[in-house]
Amino acid sequence: MRANEPAHLIPYTIAVAHQKGGVGKTTTALTVGACLAEQHVHTLLIDLDPSLNLTNGVGLSSKFVNETLAEVLLAEAPLGSAIRSTTFENLDILPSGPGMLSLSHQLHARPTYEMLLDRLIAQPRMSMYEVILIDCPPMLDALTVLALSATDLVIIPTQCEYYALQALESMFRMIRMIRAKNNPKLRYRLLVTMFDRRGKFHARVLQLLREQYSNALLKATIGFDTRVRESQMAGVPLTVFAPKCRAAEHYRSLSRELQFYIQKKRMEPASAGG
Ligand SMILES: Nc1ncnc2c1ncn2[C@@H]1O[C@H](COP(=O)(O)OP(=O)(O)OP(=O)(O)O)[C@@H](O)[C@H]1O
Ligand SMILES: [Mg+2]
Repeated sequence: MRANEPAHLIPYTIAVAHQKGGVGKTTTALTVGACLAEQHVHTLLIDLDPSLNLTNGVGLSSKFVNETLAEVLLAEAPLGSAIRSTTFENLDILPSGPGMLSLSHQLHARPTYEMLLDRLIAQPRMSMYEVILIDCPPMLDALTVLALSATDLVIIPTQCEYYALQALESMFRMIRMIRAKNNPKLRYRLLVTMFDRRGKFHARVLQLLREQYSNALLKATIGFDTRVRESQMAGVPLTVFAPKCRAAEHYRSLSRELQFYIQKKRMEPASAGG
């Protein structure tokens, strides 16, 4: 529970983070957002990555983005004018844009920057959203600290590759640091992405993950599906582009699993993570 919890509802906040690039962070943030929206959950996407992939993923071009989280946090723009609706029902976005390139650097100059996003999410304007999904850049920098300090749950997408498992250690270190310093309620879950169900090696690594991280592993596993790339090229979430494809169904299962966490927090507002 946040200190001085206000009377209005605070959205359940999920960050998708990993310092490793190309593991499916943006795909997960976007597709889970689209699945929740499809399940009538009013959802806000926040694009923390200066590479704009999530912003482009909902079909928004940087040419049309003037205000981002950077302008809002540096008090140059009101939150309301930076949030954009998308063409998809129940799905809004706080987009990325040129301003995000220097945000990490500018935050370091502010001694208490780490809780800025947490405070923003606690604003009454945000209570219109049930869920916020944050797409993080592929590094453990100030932007990821900002996200994890404001988050109920961090999803760590991982592929079933040996090196991917080694890379988890730095994520866990960062989570321990954030829990100790800013956000004791932070919980994490691992998500297997781009799983090749025909490959024996992937099955072996998945078994290892189950043995090593049993409770921290999400039950849903996202299979490799070429429709994901195609949907990104089209600037449309996968569940809209190819509603019946395998990965879309996997992301729907994941979203139903996440609804359990979301509802649990609603029913026990004073409970901390675990
Ligand atoms: N389930 C999937 N099946 C097939 N391809 C996928 C799947 N998920 C993601 N991809 C592809 O893998 C690439 C990386 O995905 P994505 O951009 O989501 O990763 P990321 O972790 O956000 O990357 P970055 O660290 O660069 O931000 C993209 O080309 C995407 O289309
Ligand atoms: Mg990304």
